[in-house]
Amino acid sequence: MTRISLKVDGQNVSDDVEPRTLLVHYLREQLGKTGTVIGCDTSNCGACTVHLDGRSVKSCNVLAVQADGSEVTTIEGLSANGRLHPVQEAFRECHGLQCGYCTPGMIMQSVDLLQENPHPTEEEIRLGLEGNLCRCTGYHNIVKAVQYAADNGGGDK
Ligand code: FES
Ligand code: FES
Repeated sequence: MTRISLKVDGQNVSDDVEPRTLLVHYLREQLGKTGTVIGCDTSNCGACTVHLDGRSVKSCNVLAVQADGSEVTTIEGLSANGRLHPVQEAFRECHGLQCGYCTPGMIMQSVDLLQENPHPTEEEIRLGLEGNLCRCTGYHNIVKAVQYAADNGGGDK
């Protein structure tokens, strides 16, 4: 076992993990952060996307020990002071979800995309989300949601 210490959704945590433990399993199984979901075992779907030191990563593709000393934000830590993040609000407003399974990853990836490029074109949004799959094929409204977020301060946070 290896001791890791990191900050997750604003809280300091310290735990013993096996060196092979994936970050997504650590978040879900040891911290109970089940808002971050697993949609594949091939690192393709992006459902497990979180922020590691402010940048989006597929948490099934990162070992928990690699996050030692870092700051992780999950979908559960995105809202602040009881208010949804503008990107969360935009997904709700534009109905950017159907079953919702891809939504945590889509939102985390969209937040990162807008931090990099606060006013993306439709093509840039589609390219930015190409690593995230929606099995319900709800891409049209997802893109609309990111555009709506961009127009409503989603890239400002
Ligand atoms: S669960 Fe991580 S990419 Fe699919
Ligand atoms: S809304 Fe169902 S997988 Fe995207």
